[in-house]
Amino acid sequence: MKLKPVTAPSLCAMKARSEKISMLTAYDYPSGRLVDEAGIDVALVGDSLGMVVLGYENTLQVTMADMIRHTAAVARGVKRALIVVDMPFLSYQVNVEEALRNAGRLVVEGGAQAVKLEGGDRSADAITKIVDAGIPVVGHLGMTPQSVNVMGGFVEQGMDEWSAHWLRQGALQLQSCGVCAIVLEKIPADLAGEISESLEIPTIGIGAGPKCDGQVLVMHDILGMYDKFVPPFAKQYTNLWQPTLEAFKAYNKEVKNGEFPVE
Ligand code: KIV
Repeated sequence: MKLKPVTAPSLCAMKARSEKISMLTAYDYPSGRLVDEAGIDVALVGDSLGMVVLGYENTLQVTMADMIRHTAAVARGVKRALIVVDMPFLSYQVNVEEALRNAGRLVVEGGAQAVKLEGGDRSADAITKIVDAGIPVVGHLGMTPQSVNVMGGFVEQGMDEWSAHWLRQGALQLQSCGVCAIVLEKIPADLAGEISESLEIPTIGIGAGPKCDGQVLVMHDILGMYDKFVPPFAKQYTNLWQPTLEAFKAYNKEVKNGEFPVE
């Protein structure tokens, strides 16, 4: 049976009928296809690719060219899932015109169906401009990786009343800017539940407990393919690093000793 494609408005409809939303990162053609064939609702081309694919320490060095190239590859593999793409660091912070131009490039050159921007109040003008131009936007609050240096690491947010207050406010502000969903990263589960209940648009949690309207994880974390940093909240469904390494070693050995190829 051919499933209907997931759209930005359908995320809200899913929340309205209490259907949980699944989101997983994808970075290339095979992972796009796998996410899609698994029936996952949203393929997120995350700037986490800076770490898990490109080997950087954080997401700050990821460029527009990186995001466009990886998005186009994912888009070639996806038929049903909604393709949401991270706007990289400094592609939307300088001014709203540049933010709109870069969001447009991700759509036109990459095939994005929605873009994701980090931050509440500080990103509100850019988000409004992009939404007004007809590009769906997903917000991102809590631990926002592009602010890693301000936050002093990938540390949990919303831990005191002041910071929780700003997260509640930020979520309401993003909703009035017209975002179609908000990612809540690394915040207390009860706060995430409270924010989710206060909104009509869905929340997608990562390290934010079970009360969000959906969940997102990084593909390499659930596959055990990135060991430099494993977030404690990520569930590892398999561990592909070791068997892959064994396969590479076996191939290397067989080439060296002439066992492969056979006549
Ligand atoms: O870049 C990314 O993969 C993300 C998720 C962690 C939400 O933004």
